[in-house]
Amino acid sequence: MRYVYLILLFAVGLVLSSWSADIAHTVSDDGEEIYLTYCKSCHGKKGNLGIGGAAKLTKSKMTLDDRISVIKDGKGKMAPFGAILSKKEIKSVAKFTLTFTNE
Ligand code: HEC
Repeated sequence: MRYVYLILLFAVGLVLSSWSADIAHTVSDDGEEIYLTYCKSCHGKKGNLGIGGAAKLTKSKMTLDDRISVIKDGKGKMAPFGAILSKKEIKSVAKFTLTFTNE
């Protein structure tokens, strides 16, 4: 009886883990969606808004690595996102900020 119970537990665990991996996948791969959720309020939809002294991302010359550390650890008035976003999410949103061009 205990054996059957263990198999059942294992099956449930398997279903749950593939389910959450699916969710993580859709969220972490979409830098644009993360940006619109967490960053737009200060940096603007197109990265050219400077609310509260926020850097204009359209004018930023920062490298991808520097952007990743600013997003993870914060800088000046910008809050750190290291506790909110996963490493993968930070990387994809940092990549997304590289798509802003100077208009
Ligand atoms: C509360 C407002 C606020 C939010 C929300 C915010 N930022 Fe910022 N961000 C700032 C400010 C202010 C600076 C300038 C910091 C400084 O230089 O002192 C900045 C700087 C940056 C820089 C550095 C640009 C440069 O060249 O100096 C990047 C990259 C950046 N933010 C990306 C993001 C991303 C991506 C998000 C969303 C995950 C985000 N920010 C959310 C306010 C914000």
